[in-house]
Amino acid sequence: MQHACSTDHPETILKFWRDNARRCGDGYVAFRLDYEGQRERVLKLVRPVVEDRHYGVGLDFGCGPGRFVPFLSELCDSLYVADLMPEMAEKAARQADNATAVGYSIPPKLELPDDSLDFLWTCFVLQHIVHPKVFKATCVELRRVLKPGAEVLLVESYGHTGGMTIGRPVAEYERALEFETLRALEQVQIDPRGQAHNIILGKVR
Ligand SMILES: C[S@@+](CC[C@H](N)C(=O)[O-])C[C@H]1O[C@@H](n2cnc3c(N)ncnc32)[C@H](O)[C@@H]1O
Repeated sequence: MQHACSTDHPETILKFWRDNARRCGDGYVAFRLDYEGQRERVLKLVRPVVEDRHYGVGLDFGCGPGRFVPFLSELCDSLYVADLMPEMAEKAARQADNATAVGYSIPPKLELPDDSLDFLWTCFVLQHIVHPKVFKATCVELRRVLKPGAEVLLVESYGHTGGMTIGRPVAEYERALEFETLRALEQVQIDPRGQAHNIILGKVR
């Protein structure tokens, strides 16, 4: 049977994530439910990548309950948070004073104007958008809201493909999000015994 994440049915995808969150609590976002341990391992890897950067307006896309919001809210003057589950975006927005929830739904539509973001963060999100048409349309929508020259920091699966996850090479993100330049840490091991990930910092055209 086709996995919910491989479909292009918004209700099927939403139901899958809602059921997960109901069953596992906030741990649903993490490999083996290791919510805080995984967050700390990700932050240890991405802090040296962003170095001393600071951004104006940022977006945490697929924010879940907002475990990265405290980090991102310091990296940006103001931060939008969006998730397929609006209740998660509301929860994430409560994690920092400068964070605001924005609407999001499939077919991919963010309630933000064109060219409004200086920075985009996605972590363990695009790897779960398995259906090629939904992935492409999501990237087009993300690109729409990015200003020319904005930076994108992705933490997404490198190689594992099956069921709810698809690994994509760096070049696929480069094409889909129209990076002019990028720096990537490839095949990084975030979770002990978990799948490898790519960490990509790209600058859009
Ligand atoms: C594994 S969780 C990661 C959450 C968060 N980024 C973190 O690392 O804590 C994946 C999140 O992406 C959201 N999501 C799944 N498919 C999505 C889609 N097509 N568009 C936007 N968000 C999606 C889910 O609702 C879920 O909250």
